[in-house]
Amino acid sequence: MLNRFASPLSSLLDARADGHSLPAGLYTRDDVFEADLDVFFMRHWIYVGLECEVPEAGDAVVIDIGKISVILLRDDENEIRVVRNVCRHRGARILDAGPTVVSKLVCPYHQWTYELDGALSYAPHMGKDFDKSCRSLKPVQFKSIGGLIYICLADEAPKDIETLDEVMRERLAPYDLRNAKVAHQVDVIEEGNWKLTMENNRECYHCSANHPELCVSFVDLDFGFDPESLSAEDREQAEAHFAMYAERTKAWEADGFPSATVEQVRDCETNFRTQRLIIAGAGESQTEDATAASSKLLGKMTRKDLGDTHLWGHNSWNHFMGDHAVTAMVIPLSADKTLVRTKWLVHKDAVEGVDYDLHKLTHVWIETTNQDADLVARSQAGVSDPAYEPGPYSRFSERALDDFATWYIDRMRAHGY
Ligand code: FES
Ligand SMILES: [Fe+2]
Repeated sequence: MLNRFASPLSSLLDARADGHSLPAGLYTRDDVFEADLDVFFMRHWIYVGLECEVPEAGDAVVIDIGKISVILLRDDENEIRVVRNVCRHRGARILDAGPTVVSKLVCPYHQWTYELDGALSYAPHMGKDFDKSCRSLKPVQFKSIGGLIYICLADEAPKDIETLDEVMRERLAPYDLRNAKVAHQVDVIEEGNWKLTMENNRECYHCSANHPELCVSFVDLDFGFDPESLSAEDREQAEAHFAMYAERTKAWEADGFPSATVEQVRDCETNFRTQRLIIAGAGESQTEDATAASSKLLGKMTRKDLGDTHLWGHNSWNHFMGDHAVTAMVIPLSADKTLVRTKWLVHKDAVEGVDYDLHKLTHVWIETTNQDADLVARSQAGVSDPAYEPGPYSRFSERALDDFATWYIDRMRAHGY
């Protein structure tokens, strides 16, 4: 009988060839899933939600990441707080997953009661001399970047989140996401590893064949193409697009809207990329006809022609447009299951059926997300087949995937794997 030993994780990392997708085990193994949670979800900054999900004192939302559960809430002083969802008595979960409204945080087990700032205020039958002051709920460090909440569960948080903050604070200000509301939310569980989910999101190589709805407003050329493979006519069109792109970017920037690409994707801890993209066709929004879905624009926006400010991180992607925003958060559930939580934001005063039509608002990204879920499941099935061997990324349209895979290996190594 043949004895088989799984190779150590470090040799899987060593086996990754430059310019190629990852060795199978990195997408399929349970020990890699645990290591990924440890490195990328416990020790890096991750995007978990929005200030506008908890607009009033007492609003709370619970987010589960692996074995960890955190509560994002607004306290009585109207400050955002993020605390661990673990009772300081014997550890019971205080709140269930999802959104809720509370006046205090009461543990269901023995009714220890915490104020909204996390301080323990009531602990029955613990005696007069019991010191409550050292039993507050554990705080989680977080950063609100233009209303997007990032948390870091490590004691030593990566400092280069500052670059993301500096770049996005100004870019996001006009959208005033703090005064937006979630018009719709959809959870999709993809049957694939979270890295396949992120890889799929980082290229538009697959867009023209798979995303008819998105391609009305999205220009896949923006994410790279092989100039040799274009027909003379297509090349002419591409050149016209890039000339228009350069001109628009210049005009947007002259009007005070930073638009140029900023990316921090290699040799860094906090991985992100942003760019203001042109919206094709009617040029307003990612809808079926590229016109705005909401007549009430976001925040202080007065124009619909400011394109799509896209932002991605290692567990999120976002699109900010004049009339609405779409934000997606990614949480691994197991080696081959990943939660993709998508939210559609509109101005907080926008009224459904009056200012916006929910179908028009959500259609493109509901379809696109479902199509992507199918592609990710297809990839997972393939990488789990013994016939899989890492294949070459296109140097034109999958450069971002090579960056991501390289960053992934570097970060794993930096954390001792
Ligand atoms: S475990 Fe929460 S009150 Fe006892
Ligand atoms: Fe896609």
